[in-house]
Amino acid sequence: MKNYAVILASGSGERSGLNIPKQFAMINEKTVLELTLDVFSSHKNIDEIILVTNPDYFELTNEIISKNNYYKLEKIIKGGATRQQSSYAGISAIEDTNANVLIHDAARPFVTHEIISKCINALKEYKAVNVAIESSDTIIEVTYDNIINNVPDRKYLRRCQTPQCFDIKLIKKAHELAIKENTDNITDDCGLILRYNLADVYVVQGSTDNIKITYPMDMEIAKLILKKESR
Ligand code: C5P
Repeated sequence: MKNYAVILASGSGERSGLNIPKQFAMINEKTVLELTLDVFSSHKNIDEIILVTNPDYFELTNEIISKNNYYKLEKIIKGGATRQQSSYAGISAIEDTNANVLIHDAARPFVTHEIISKCINALKEYKAVNVAIESSDTIIEVTYDNIINNVPDRKYLRRCQTPQCFDIKLIKKAHELAIKENTDNITDDCGLILRYNLADVYVVQGSTDNIKITYPMDMEIAKLILKKESR
């Protein structure tokens, strides 16, 4: 069974404070997008990569791709206005009906081979797999007027990362159900599986380095992680 990676790089990255989307920002000598593609391309069990990008940045994307030998990169697809739409565009490009798909945020360049392997292994038993880490902070749930109404037990709370990984048929079904009810703004793919109660979602251990570059400070943290990893 093939393992496809869908890399989502179609966001505008408004929160990053940069003048280009964060996936095109440079960390030392490489863009965030290249660092992410490097990890997936060099994983022995990833067979094909589909990159979802914003049409306004097709030229820049092609320029970046042509500098590298990403021979597993099969398709570059146009993204949508929301992450959910981009994710659907990516999975729709997979024709194989008996396959796994790992959907990953291009803005998380510090995913590791170990995390990807753990996901692929877990897919032998589960049809949906998420990556998460413990929360060092207590997480509170508040009402619309900022009053705490729940303090969930921290031992059962996790912070979600990517990749989020699925049997291709299952995640396509979840997206199609969402389209039927005009829902297009779910921020993570596992959320769709739960919304329609389609499968158990198993969680594998992520890493504190697997950050999603979001705010200006994250670029500084990214440089430190890169130095530590000596990539
Ligand atoms: O906006 P957020 O940080 O949640 O985005 C997570 C990932 O999804 C990023 O890599 C971003 O490029 C991608 N994305 C996308 N299409 C969108 C919005 C986000 O591919 N419309």
